[in-house]
Amino acid sequence: MLTSQIVVDREFVIAPLDRRVFGTFIEHMGRCVYGGIFEPGHPAADVDGFRRDVLDLTRELGATIVRYPGGNFLSGYNWEDGVGPRDKRPRRLDLAWGSTETNQFGTNEFISWCKAAGVEPMFAVNLGTRGPDEARHFIEYCNHPGGTQYSDLRRAHGFEAPHGIKLWCLGNEMDGPWQICQKTAAEYGRVAQESAKVMRWVDPGIELTACGSSHRNMPTYGHWEQEVLERCFEQVDFISLHQYFRNDAQDTRSYFGVIEDLDSFIREVVAIADSVAAKRRSPKRIMLSLDEWNVWYKAHGPADLRKPGWPEAPRLIEEVYNFEDALIVGGVLITLMNHADRLKAACLAQLVNVIGAIMTEAGGPAWRQTIFHPFSQAARSGHGDVLRTRVQTDSYATAQHPQLDFLLASVLHDARTGRVAIFALNRSIHDEMQLSVDLRGLGNRRIVSATELHHHDLQAENTRSAPDTVKPSTHAAVSVSGNQLRAKLRPLSWNVFVTEPG
Ligand code: AHR
Repeated sequence: MLTSQIVVDREFVIAPLDRRVFGTFIEHMGRCVYGGIFEPGHPAADVDGFRRDVLDLTRELGATIVRYPGGNFLSGYNWEDGVGPRDKRPRRLDLAWGSTETNQFGTNEFISWCKAAGVEPMFAVNLGTRGPDEARHFIEYCNHPGGTQYSDLRRAHGFEAPHGIKLWCLGNEMDGPWQICQKTAAEYGRVAQESAKVMRWVDPGIELTACGSSHRNMPTYGHWEQEVLERCFEQVDFISLHQYFRNDAQDTRSYFGVIEDLDSFIREVVAIADSVAAKRRSPKRIMLSLDEWNVWYKAHGPADLRKPGWPEAPRLIEEVYNFEDALIVGGVLITLMNHADRLKAACLAQLVNVIGAIMTEAGGPAWRQTIFHPFSQAARSGHGDVLRTRVQTDSYATAQHPQLDFLLASVLHDARTGRVAIFALNRSIHDEMQLSVDLRGLGNRRIVSATELHHHDLQAENTRSAPDTVKPSTHAAVSVSGNQLRAKLRPLSWNVFVTEPG
């Protein structure tokens, strides 16, 4: 039996958690939009063609923001194609994913869907084939009240009130050779700077994200962030990070190390952003937006990425998640919360079907993948200040990581409700863990809820015929006395304890 201890003090706060870290992502790709959130004619579809079952699951997931419309799709997208009368909208080749885009779903449909789902939109402007001119027109269409060409066009399309979209991404993965119109850091930094400038002139209330590297192993990683921020530091609020986690070696012990890799990635990008600030003697701090992250390695072959014949909404990268992947997602969420001082937005990629937390069948049901559960639990209980944790636990080593702690944990205190949420991942494959948590300055506590996510089979999946194979259950071994919580954590388990004063 392992023993681990966490000490927190309500006065020792990392930062209030920005709830926008519980974002997700919808791209015009595969069956994410068509057959995912939008399926006119489905028995559960509403008058707009939105699947009500998917809307219900999105609300249950607890997503706060949703990034749209891409992804790689973005870099060839003309926003004008997706607005106005549907029968006039063009069908186009989507070069990013080798598909035919019908444009039957676009900006206004997405805004209506966000309202129905109770989420905030995060839009992106195309800086691949396009640039500042389209970006300024698009934001005028979306956010300007009226009396100009594009704002009146929106009104003519039936949307009298401006959409008031606050969060904007300046392009997508512009460093990648796979991107439509890849750019060098100098080229991108300049176009991002000018696009940001004119977009803010149209609407000064927006928040802007510059593209960081597509992942931490890009050859230009580091230099890219440095050069891009040197150029657009004054114009942007965020720099993005994207990271997909892999377990190609099928080695659970090493797989857990991807959580530490993300931790390093975040620290490195903070250091680079602050070095740009330091050179300018600027008090401004660029925040981080991890606006694409997930496990993705099984559905990554050529046939997953593209289907012949330019089909409409083909099955692309429909990764089926197992219990092991859910543990990784839980661990990543702990890391995100513990970086609350600099990480202010994040998007699980993606919402439906395409590396989705939710799966659907055309004309059929929708169900929760395994990774849905840790995300929805964190989004439901992750409120308030993230507290600094002093963690004492044993560790193990792998070829890539000299020290991987068995216990990963995050503790949040919500001063409004008095609630404390503890998220704890036991990464030991064989050993139970006796955990004690000293909640200093938080008075006597009582348990509101205690759950564990555990399955004896790391490969267990949720499928159409067995959608609840992996799901949280009530924790059987937890107690509270005064301000001390004690729990026994099963090997390979993700645990959530919520307490309140009492
Ligand atoms: O989410 C799938 C793809 O992954 C996105 O289109 C792209 O931005 C990333 O490479």
